[in-house]
Amino acid sequence: MTPKVIKTIGEMRRLSRQWRREGQRIALVPTMGFLHEGHLSLIRRARKAADKTVVSIYVNPTQFAPGEDLDKYPRDFERDLKLCAEERADAVFFPENHEMYPPGYQTYVFNEHLSDKLCGQTRPTHFKGVTTIVAKLFNIVEADAAVFGQKDAQQALIIRNMARDLNFRTNIIVAPIVRENDGLAMSSRNKYLTPDQRKQALVLNKSLRYAEKQWQEGLRDMARLKADIYTMISARNACRVDYISFVDACTLEEADSRSPEILLALAVFVGTTRLIDNVLLRR
Ligand code: PAF
Repeated sequence: MTPKVIKTIGEMRRLSRQWRREGQRIALVPTMGFLHEGHLSLIRRARKAADKTVVSIYVNPTQFAPGEDLDKYPRDFERDLKLCAEERADAVFFPENHEMYPPGYQTYVFNEHLSDKLCGQTRPTHFKGVTTIVAKLFNIVEADAAVFGQKDAQQALIIRNMARDLNFRTNIIVAPIVRENDGLAMSSRNKYLTPDQRKQALVLNKSLRYAEKQWQEGLRDMARLKADIYTMISARNACRVDYISFVDACTLEEADSRSPEILLALAVFVGTTRLIDNVLLRR
């Protein structure tokens, strides 16, 4: 059955309140659309967590800086709706900009520390846009759970912290990274890659798998691993490293010998497309 398409905050609120009155649990999957298998895995995870699933599709302008890809960000609502129907989502929240940011809009949610790190160095205003829109979605849908992907590990951590700090009732679920058969992490931005860049982009996953294997075999020299990864990536002419970081998975501070769980995260420009990927390394 085609999910109910909801374009206004009022209608979304009415539906979720009705569901709650009926004793149904609600899970939210926030997306910017152009859905791929990674998003579909989040919808499946949401369906396990609740009785009703809401997928939001909204390309949020406040998380793009001037000069980033807001205007060319891929969109295909009809295809997205079909995929949501196949995954048996119950509702698709598809608001327009004037609904989410009406004239006079001036209030933002801002995380103080985690958002400066990793991607925050290159995209200093990005997470303020993300936390603001996600807080708004949490208030509108009042879901019991919301599902995010581990590919955006920093985003997931920031949202978990926001939900805790601001006492949202929504439980945050983080689902594993979904990869193409050849290992490339799924992302709507993969669409920007030429066939040659697409091939070269495989070095992100290859270098993470290399580091993971070395780690499992007992190598703990993070500086050496970082240098190896840098060499692997820089050997591809289309690739330029933005960052390669070993950080504490909870604080995003540089990892040291005491960090119980380490996030190895990287961001790489492949041509002009910036891709991110990561792996968790346990002691
Ligand atoms: O991960 C995304 O697609 C976006 O950052 C999100 C969480 C939907 C907020 O716009």
